[in-house]
Amino acid sequence: MLDGMATPKTISDVTLSLAQPRDAATIAHMSKRLIEVGLPWSWTPERVAMRIRHRESVVLTARAGAELAGFAIMQFSDTSAHLELLAVDPRYERLGIGRRLVEWLEETAVIAGTFVIALEVRAANDGARWFYSSLGYREVCCIAGYYCRVENAVQMVRDLRVISARDAT
Ligand SMILES: CC(C)(COP(=O)(O)OP(=O)(O)OC[C@H]1O[C@@H](n2cnc3c(N)ncnc32)[C@H](O)[C@@H]1OP(=O)(O)O)[C@@H](O)C(=O)NCCC(=O)NCCS
Repeated sequence: MLDGMATPKTISDVTLSLAQPRDAATIAHMSKRLIEVGLPWSWTPERVAMRIRHRESVVLTARAGAELAGFAIMQFSDTSAHLELLAVDPRYERLGIGRRLVEWLEETAVIAGTFVIALEVRAANDGARWFYSSLGYREVCCIAGYYCRVENAVQMVRDLRVISARDAT
């Protein structure tokens, strides 16, 4: 038992829903703890709250009961979408939650007519690079000093039209 509740053993115990303003602080602290380690904290509660309100952003949560097990933030533009943040609490890793969050966002992007999704990942984050590769993202370039000149980024992209074409055959 953790925090008074059992960690779910299957992904069916986890539900996806849009973030509410009251989730901003929890998401921001998850970003600080799981994503921005060793960097200045840029995804503050105020910045996350702005994304929750922003019409061209989606902030998606994965919940196990009342607990936030994971989240993702994606920003849409006319021609592409940018997956800005994604994290799953370590107690819930390898249950398929990250995959479900990304697939939900991809389906939403396609419905919105946006077929290219891009993201940056810390170059030293092998786990995330494997994760995105397993979902069909390919590494396109390295961006030197992207993270406050502390660490390089690897940019990864997925063109969903490739899948659409393959699925259509
Ligand atoms: C990367 C992260 C989002 C993955 O979330 P997750 O819910 O554990 O991932 P899933 O269970 O959906 O994994 C799907 C597949 O991705 C691959 N994968 C996931 N984590 C992996 C790892 N650490 N190493 C290698 N492959 C991995 C596997 O193929 C996995 O399928 P499998 O478990 O059947 O083998 C999560 O580990 C995390 O939040 N890490 C810290 C924050 C972070 O790095 N965020 C991404 C950059 S913003």
